[in-house]
Amino acid sequence: MKIGILSSGGDCPGINATIRGVGKTALNHFGMEVAGIRYGFQGLLNMDYIPLGDKELSGLLNLGGTILGTSREKPFRQMLESGDSGNLQAVVRNYRDLGLDCLVCIGGNGTQKTAYQVSKLGLNVIGIPKTIDNDVFGTDFTFGFNSAVHIATEAIDRLHSTASSHNRVMIIELMGHKAGWITLYAGMAGGADVILLPELGCNIDKVNETILNRAKKGKPYSIVAVGEGLKLDGIEGSPASMLSKLICEGTEIETRETILGHVQRGGNPSAYDRNLATRLGGYATEMISKHQFGRMVAIVSGRITSLPLKEVAGKTKLVTPDNDLILQGKRLGVSFGI
Ligand code: F6P
Repeated sequence: MKIGILSSGGDCPGINATIRGVGKTALNHFGMEVAGIRYGFQGLLNMDYIPLGDKELSGLLNLGGTILGTSREKPFRQMLESGDSGNLQAVVRNYRDLGLDCLVCIGGNGTQKTAYQVSKLGLNVIGIPKTIDNDVFGTDFTFGFNSAVHIATEAIDRLHSTASSHNRVMIIELMGHKAGWITLYAGMAGGADVILLPELGCNIDKVNETILNRAKKGKPYSIVAVGEGLKLDGIEGSPASMLSKLICEGTEIETRETILGHVQRGGNPSAYDRNLATRLGGYATEMISKHQFGRMVAIVSGRITSLPLKEVAGKTKLVTPDNDLILQGKRLGVSFGI
C-alpha cells in the first residue's frame, strides 16, 4: 500500500514525531510506501510531495514544527464548499496518479472537517488530531497541548517572583483561539490567582475584588492568566491589555501584561507529546492496513482508539464549568472571574 501524509493548519510540537510514527510503522512493520505532501491540502492540488524513506524519517522525534510545511490556506475547502467540480476532480486524479491508498491528515478542527469532506469524494482518509489548543472534539488530548502547557507554566512561574518583588498584578495572555484549555491547565499548574477562560466570560468587579482581598491579606501582588479568546463586554482586542487597564483603574495596583504568543507553539515536543504522537501515528497506520478509513484516531480515557470523521467534523471541544480543575481551583480560592 502507499500512504500520503500531510500537515495542515497551525503547527505544533509533535507533528514530526507523528510523521515518524506513521512513516516508520508503514515502512518497517507493514512494508508500505510513504509520500509526504507539502504545505497541507495545497500540496495535493499542486502535486507537491516528497518520498519519505528511512533517511527522511530519521531525527524527527524531538524536532519542533513540521518537515512537510503547513498552511492555513483553505483553497481545497473553499472549492469543496462552492462545488468547484473541475478542481475537485483534479484532487481525486492527483490522489490516484500518486497511487495513494490512503491520505493521512494531521491537523486541528478545520483539517478534520476538510478530511471528512475529502472522504466524501470517495478517497480513503484518516485524521490525526493535533493542536496546542486541545479543542478537537472526540479526543481527550491533542499532542502539542502538553508541550504548550509546560511552556506557559514556566512563564507563569517566572512572573511570580517579579510580581511579588514589585507588588504588581501580572497578567499573562495565553493561546487557545476560542478554547481556554492552555489557560486552565497552565494557570492551575502555575498557581495563578485569577484564571479567565473565554468559555466562562468575566466580571471585572469580581476580578478586582479578588485582587483587593489578596492585598488585604498581605499579598499585594497577583497573577492573572487569561485566554486570548476572552471577550470583555464584547470589545475586540487583546484581553491582556484591556484587563491591565481595568485592573489598574479598579484596584490602584500597578499592572503589567505579557502576551506569550507563538513561543507556546515552537520548539521541541514534551516527552508526553512525543509518545502520544508515536502511538497515534502507529495506530493510524494499523488502521490503514485493516482498511479502516474515514476515521480520526483519538485518545480516550488513556486508550488509543478512533471515531468516524463524520462525528468530529464541525465540532469544537470547549472547557465546561464542571471541569474538575475548575471545581478544585475554586475550592483552593482561585477566582475564575465569575
Ligand atoms: O490553533 C493554534 C493557534 O496557536 C491558536 O492558539 C491561535 O489562536 C492561532 O493558532 C494563531 O494562529 P496563527 O499562527 O495563524 O497566527
